[in-house]
Amino acid sequence: MSSENSYFITTPIFYVNDVPHIGHAYTEVAADVLARWNRQNGKDAWMLTGTDEHGQKILRTSVANGVSPQEWADKLVTESWKPLLDTISIKNDDFIRTTEPRHETAVQKFLELLRDKGYIYSGEYEGYYCVGCEEYKQPGDLLEGGDDFPGEKVCAIHTRPIEILKESNYFFRMSDFQQQLLDLYESQPDFIQPESVRNEILSFVRRGLDDLSISRSSFDWGVKIPWDDSHVVYVWFEALLNYITASGWGADDESFEARWPAIHIVGKDIARFHAVIWPAMLMAAGITPPRRVFGHGWLLVGGEKMSKSKLTGIAPHQITDVFGADAFRYYFMRAINFGQDGSFSWEDLSARYQAELANGFGNLASRTVAMVSRYFDGVIPAATEMNEADTVIVDTVRDAFTQANAAIEKLAIHEAIASVWRIVDALNGYITEQEPWALAKDDANRDRLSTVLYTAVEGLRAITVGLSPIMPGATQKLWQALGAPEALGELEDQQMSRAGDWGQIPAGVTVSALDALFPRIEE
Ligand code: ME8
Ligand code: MG
Repeated sequence: MSSENSYFITTPIFYVNDVPHIGHAYTEVAADVLARWNRQNGKDAWMLTGTDEHGQKILRTSVANGVSPQEWADKLVTESWKPLLDTISIKNDDFIRTTEPRHETAVQKFLELLRDKGYIYSGEYEGYYCVGCEEYKQPGDLLEGGDDFPGEKVCAIHTRPIEILKESNYFFRMSDFQQQLLDLYESQPDFIQPESVRNEILSFVRRGLDDLSISRSSFDWGVKIPWDDSHVVYVWFEALLNYITASGWGADDESFEARWPAIHIVGKDIARFHAVIWPAMLMAAGITPPRRVFGHGWLLVGGEKMSKSKLTGIAPHQITDVFGADAFRYYFMRAINFGQDGSFSWEDLSARYQAELANGFGNLASRTVAMVSRYFDGVIPAATEMNEADTVIVDTVRDAFTQANAAIEKLAIHEAIASVWRIVDALNGYITEQEPWALAKDDANRDRLSTVLYTAVEGLRAITVGLSPIMPGATQKLWQALGAPEALGELEDQQMSRAGDWGQIPAGVTVSALDALFPRIEE
C-alpha cells in the first residue's frame, strides 16, 4: 500500500532525437517546484525524469548521423539532457534511461504478466503512422499537406507527412477497459487536469476504444518481446512503463509500494497516452492507476507549439546565460497560468525581471538588510508595540501561505507564486509608508523603528521560504544574509505549512551583506 506520505512526481521521459528546448525545461521546472514545495511540507517527495531512447524516431536520427542508436543516445544524454538539469536547478531523485537493464528487464516482466492474464493476442494492423508522434493516427487527426507537401496527408502536430504501415503485431486488449476508465474518471474527478484536457479525454474514451498494437517487427531498436524476439515492444508502451520500472516494480516491490501511485506532469500533447493507455495497462496488470495526470499547456512560437522537429526550439541556456536559472524558473511559472498555453518573449521576460525580480523582490531584500546594518549595526531588532499597519503584514503573511498551500495542492503553481507575491507588494508598500529612514533621524522613534524593521525582516523570512522552491539560488543567498541558517536551520527544511506563522526569526541575529539578487542586465 502506498504510504500516505509519498509524493511521487514525474516528467515525461524525453526523446533523445535532439537537444532540449525550453518546452522540456518548462515541464522539468514545474515538476521540480511541486516536488520541492511538498518536500518542504514533510512529504516523502520523489521526482523522476529521464529519456526515451528506443523506437523508429531515434533509430532514424542515429542513422542520419552515421552512428548507432545507442551511441547517439549516450551522446545526447551525456552532453545535453543531463546537463539541462543543472542549467535550470532541477533536484531530481532519479533519472531513468529506457536503455538501462533495470527498465528492459521489468518491461519484459510486465509483458509476460499481461500475456499470462490473456490481454495480449497477435493480429494485423494497417494504418497511418506519424513517426514524430510514434503513433498510429485516425483520419480525423490528419491535415492536408498544402504547399509544403502537396497531395499528401500530414500529422496535425508535426505538419509532416504520415506513413502507411501494415504489420502483423501483438495487440493489447485496451478496448476491454473503456468502462473501467470512465469509472476512474468519474470516481476521481481530479485524475485528469486541467478541465479542458479532462473533457477532451472523456469524449475520446466515450467514443469507444480500439485495441492497441504494441509490437513492431520492421526494425529492432527496442525491447524484445520476451516470447518472440522477431518483435520489439512499441515505443510508447515501453516508455510509459518507465514510471514503474524506475520505482522498483518487479524488482523491489517494497519500495515500489511505498512510492506508487505517481502524479504525472506532461504536456497536453501526450495527455491521452497518460490518461488512457497508461491506466488501462496498469488495470490489466492489477496495479493502481496513477494519482493524477496533469496536461500542461504549450509554449508557443508564432502561435504554434515550439518543437524540436520544426526547429523552433530556444535552448534553455540562451535564457539562463543572461538571466540566470532562478529568473528562468520564476518567469515560466509566474507568467503562464499552469495548464494554459503561453508565448515566450524576450521583452516580457526582461520586463518582468526588471519590475518583479530586481525592483520588487530584490530591492525589498537589499534595502531591508541594508537598513538593519545601518540603523542597528546589523543586529535584527525586537518588535515592541505593534500597530495596525504591522498586523496587516502579519495577516498578509498568514493568508498568503494558506492560499499558496491550497494552490499547490491543486497544482496551480502560478497562483501559489501570486499569493507569496502579495507579501512582497505589501512589504514594499509598508516600508514606503513607514519611512524607517525618517524614523531613524530621531532617537525618540527608536522603538517604532525597531518594530518596523523587525516586521520587514520577518516578512522577508516568510517570502524567502515561500519562494525557495521556485528560486532556490537567490533565496539561499538571502537566507544566509538574514543569518537564518543558525537561527532557524536550513532553508530547505523550512515547513510550508508553518511558514505563515509570525515571529520565527529571532531578534538578536546578525545579518550580513547581500549582493544584488537580480543584477542589472546589460543590453
Ligand atoms: O513525447 N511547450 O517526448 P518529447 C511545452 N518521449 N512543453 C513542451 C513543448 C512545448 N512547446 N514541447 C515539448 C515524448 N514539451 C515521449 C514521452 S513519456 C512516457 C514519453 C514537453 O521529447 C512537454 O512535457 O516529444 C511534452 O509533453 C514533452 O516535452 C514531449 O517530449
Ligand atoms: Mg514530441
